[in-house]
Amino acid sequence: MKALCWHGTEDVRVETVPDPQIQDSRDVIVRITATAICGSDLHLYDGFMPTMEKGDILGHEPMGEVVEVGRGITTLKVGDRVVVPFTISCGSCYFCQRQLFSLCDTSNPNADVARKAMGQSPAGLLGYSHMLGGFPGGQAEYLRVPFADVGPVKIPAGLRDEQVLFLSDIFPTGYMAAENAGIESGDTVAVWGCGPVGQFTIQSAWMFGAGRVIAIDRVPERLAMAATHGRAEIINFDEHDVYDRLMELTGGRGPDRCIDAVGTEAHGHGSFDAVLDKVKAAVYLGTDRPHVIREVIMCCRKGGTVSIPGVYIGFLDKIPFGAAMNKGLTLKMGQTNVPRYHHLLLEKIQAGQIDPSFVITHRLPLEEAPDAYRTFRDKKDGCIKVVLTP
Ligand SMILES: NC(=O)c1ccc[n+]([C@@H]2O[C@H](COP(=O)([O-])OP(=O)(O)OC[C@H]3O[C@@H](n4cnc5c(N)ncnc54)[C@H](O)[C@@H]3O)[C@@H](O)[C@H]2O)c1
Ligand SMILES: [Zn+2]
Ligand SMILES: [Zn+2]
Repeated sequence: MKALCWHGTEDVRVETVPDPQIQDSRDVIVRITATAICGSDLHLYDGFMPTMEKGDILGHEPMGEVVEVGRGITTLKVGDRVVVPFTISCGSCYFCQRQLFSLCDTSNPNADVARKAMGQSPAGLLGYSHMLGGFPGGQAEYLRVPFADVGPVKIPAGLRDEQVLFLSDIFPTGYMAAENAGIESGDTVAVWGCGPVGQFTIQSAWMFGAGRVIAIDRVPERLAMAATHGRAEIINFDEHDVYDRLMELTGGRGPDRCIDAVGTEAHGHGSFDAVLDKVKAAVYLGTDRPHVIREVIMCCRKGGTVSIPGVYIGFLDKIPFGAAMNKGLTLKMGQTNVPRYHHLLLEKIQAGQIDPSFVITHRLPLEEAPDAYRTFRDKKDGCIKVVLTP
């Protein structure tokens, strides 16, 4: 089959590789009909994520048709249409029982590597490094889905791929980001980053009863989408000092709930800390560029909540932890517990409350994935979200 393989920083190639096989009785094989590129894939593309190996198949936002089922699978049959979450979860461990699917204790075969880096291992993830399982990803013609009786959500007839594809990751991720922010009715919610995750975070903040949403980015078409589709007030961080502007907009108090939907590859408008991060990351002295989380902590109102869907990787420098402590902030974060939100969000789509396809700007064949990665990373050609079809 054809698949998009990682070969190094900024080097991804469409190659012919062996078709996946059923390896366990709880596996299914899915023929991919649509598969997206995520901001998290950029951390692999840009070389921030360790334990990648040449030839690794990328992709963790796939959907398609079940073409083969393992002996132990009774919940799916050949011909079913499914969206596959990026998290791999066994469904029965301590964490899965508590719906903490991204923290599954059994799905990462390389848990000992992750344990060395993090103390304990989170769940295995599709197409996301060997430390997180070494599972081949879904930017391919076919995908093996482990524990297929837990993760995949069956799609009823009548819904287009583009309406449901983002149940694999970014819609639940935006929703969990808003949930983790602990939004109370009427709250002012500030969202850093107007990429696809930021857009779904903004949509979800309203669902949780926000009174105002303020969105921060510098890419004009992303800010425009936040303003029109997301009904957010916007701040362009190239034009304003974000702290000063947020204080102005909130009468000096700061936003009640602050959400970092940027993560490890933040840019700064020439700010000293952001320049230093860039230099350190470039010479492997720093694992992350955490400009946004610093700013979020400084801007959040006293007693407020910081929610972090943005991905961080290693050891972050110069985080104003004293500010977080003395201001009494609550911090919540994590990879998304995707299946936990499937039914709720599928219902919202079916009821016509949201059509997640609004973020899609580019529809391309899988063969064009290498160019699509660059276009998405560089925010060229108005690119906000790419959907690939094998
Ligand atoms: N927690 C999870 O389970 C989960 C799931 C999916 C994605 N993510 C993470 O969420 C983050 C966003 O994903 P995405 O797909 O939207 O990525 P993206 O790269 O398309 O979007 C990031 C946005 O942040 C903006 N940005 C950069 N520096 C900024 C700054 N200083 N202030 C404000 N905005 C700034 C960029 O211009 C860009 O629009 C990534 O870190 C990704 O890895 C996490
Ligand atoms: Zn993703
Ligand atoms: Zn589990």
